[in-house]
Amino acid sequence: MNNSSKSKILVTTALPYANGPLHLGHIFENILADFWVRYLKMKKNEVYFYCADDTHGSAVMIEARKQGQIPEEFIKSISQSHQEDFRGFLIDHSFYFSTHSETNRQLCHFFYQKMQEKGTIERRHQSQLYCPHDQMFLPDRFVKGQCPNCGATEQYGDSCEACGATYSAFQLKNPACAICGTQPELQTTEQIFFKLNLFKELLQESLPQITDPATAKKMSEWFRQDLRDWDISRNGPYFGFPIPGESNKFFYVWLDAPMGYIATSLEHQKSLGQDGMEFWIKDSPHKVYHFIGKDITYFHTLFWPALLKVADLRLPNFVFVHGFVKVNGHRMSKSRGNFILAKQYLQHLPPEALRYYFASKASATSQDDIDFNLDDFVARANAELVGKFVNLFSRSIKLLEHFNYQLGELSTAMKSYIKQVSHNHITAAEKAYENQQYHLVIDQTRQLADEANRFFDERAPWKTIKNDEKATLETLTVTLNLAKNLALILKPIIPEISKKALSFFHTTQLDCWDDLHLLLEKTSLTPYQNLFTRITPDSVRPLIQPSDSTHQKVATPATKQGEPLTLIKIDDFAKIDLRVAEVVEAQAVEGSERLLSLKVFLGPLGYRHIFAGLKKSYPNPSELIGKKIAVVANLEPRKMKFGISEAMALAVGTDERLAVLEICEKRSKPGDPIK
Ligand code: 2FM
Ligand code: ZN
Repeated sequence: MNNSSKSKILVTTALPYANGPLHLGHIFENILADFWVRYLKMKKNEVYFYCADDTHGSAVMIEARKQGQIPEEFIKSISQSHQEDFRGFLIDHSFYFSTHSETNRQLCHFFYQKMQEKGTIERRHQSQLYCPHDQMFLPDRFVKGQCPNCGATEQYGDSCEACGATYSAFQLKNPACAICGTQPELQTTEQIFFKLNLFKELLQESLPQITDPATAKKMSEWFRQDLRDWDISRNGPYFGFPIPGESNKFFYVWLDAPMGYIATSLEHQKSLGQDGMEFWIKDSPHKVYHFIGKDITYFHTLFWPALLKVADLRLPNFVFVHGFVKVNGHRMSKSRGNFILAKQYLQHLPPEALRYYFASKASATSQDDIDFNLDDFVARANAELVGKFVNLFSRSIKLLEHFNYQLGELSTAMKSYIKQVSHNHITAAEKAYENQQYHLVIDQTRQLADEANRFFDERAPWKTIKNDEKATLETLTVTLNLAKNLALILKPIIPEISKKALSFFHTTQLDCWDDLHLLLEKTSLTPYQNLFTRITPDSVRPLIQPSDSTHQKVATPATKQGEPLTLIKIDDFAKIDLRVAEVVEAQAVEGSERLLSLKVFLGPLGYRHIFAGLKKSYPNPSELIGKKIAVVANLEPRKMKFGISEAMALAVGTDERLAVLEICEKRSKPGDPIK
């Protein structure tokens, strides 16, 4: 990819479904794109960053129905909520639109007309399940039943989670409508198909060049056989655009969704007095980049390019495919309690801590999943953002007060020291941004910050200020020049913190990449103001409470003696996170014969509340206070009669004579894993 020419650049992220709130997966993708967009702007490119809500389809229609709203009303409130969340994470979309717009409807008609003209569609009869109660044809995900292959119950109409088999919904045994539970009927209906295979050679030839090697490899597997025709129509009731010339037929949501990319550009560029189609015409001088998650690769590397070909439009310059966000090592899931909504995060934590964390782990050209590990997140924000970056500013600006907040002059030796220290890091960070390898940007800033802190510590200005003003001012001037460079390099990643840091140098405007080569002398600064506050382990805890209370499970009674052992697999055992906890409070639960209420401290994981069946064994509960005990730290919080228990204390013995497992190893600290 060569961005040195000054053509305009259009960047899109996948359009989120308007059927629910955003979660950290959506945020991750948009943060990745936002890093790049902000960097490209710092390099003085003309960049447009677009997103919109993907508003059509059965899921949106049904969700609106559940909320007692018409879809049009429902998608408005969802769009507001989505935009609020994106802004909360400082994602700087140039424009945010909706696929439910007149511009998009017209585009859809334009594409459909081209498809008809070019003989790429075909009508065909097919069997589909119909719910007589809801009076609608059921999409695969709205039918549940028994897998025709292995017999597992509660499986969706497309594939079985138990055995992995794929099938058609009508092949399910004992199918039921997932909305109302009624047994659906099999009906035959006529649908409209797009003959994707007509484009096989064209796609095979052009696509590997616009995707990363892993995606290209996946595509070459798809190309081993003919590409399946694609059903682009849905019967009503359906929330979408009616298909012209048909009665009660609508375009499938995935047809008009990617057109939303074009509709958004048209709408925004029109408001600027420009023609957005300039980006999409064949031989356009401009660049188009899509960011997507790996689950929607097929749509963006086969369907969408084929549609663009039908309409005689250009293909994107590149489709960046990223992996999923995991939380504490697991895929986000509501039942596991680690499903994090964007709003939930923002309620408790600052957006830039997550932006920094994602940057330190991410590369937009890798499809590996990234793990949002809460302990690591807290540690990095405190050790790196505060420890290395913020402190550099606070320590040096506070001492600069002595010099009326004015930088001094730099000797030739010091000028070349700043240049020499910064040069390699600037060049490497630039390359990393170009390649979207943000973890490498962070590596560079970490090294530069270490170097600046080392310089500051070795020259000890807090001591020299007593007897050598000249040397002290020189130290502060050099340090603040390096700190300025750090803030500039990190600006796309932590834009607000960097902006605030750069505004300390209030007599010099600093905002673009070229300012990295400026040497600041005699510049006046403003007094230091806090840039970022340390994150406490306690503040991340609410993130892993179940976000849906219906998933809280009630505690199961203790196993009676003499029952046969239930065997578990080693993999199940490995999931248990055993940790050292210090008991800080212990008291009997009034009204319960069995329970003690414990508050334990788990070091970086903070405090947990546990209800433990230890009352009879510890009639004097305070004897437990101060003990270091073994707990299962990752047990899903359980709702009990007296409150929520958030971990499990391990004990041996029988009901009346239980003894907690105490950790005697002297060096063990609360929160330490027990190996
Ligand atoms: O997977 C999804 O969430 C889709 N709503 C993405 C659509 S991207 C584009 F094609 F509109
Ligand atoms: Zn039904």
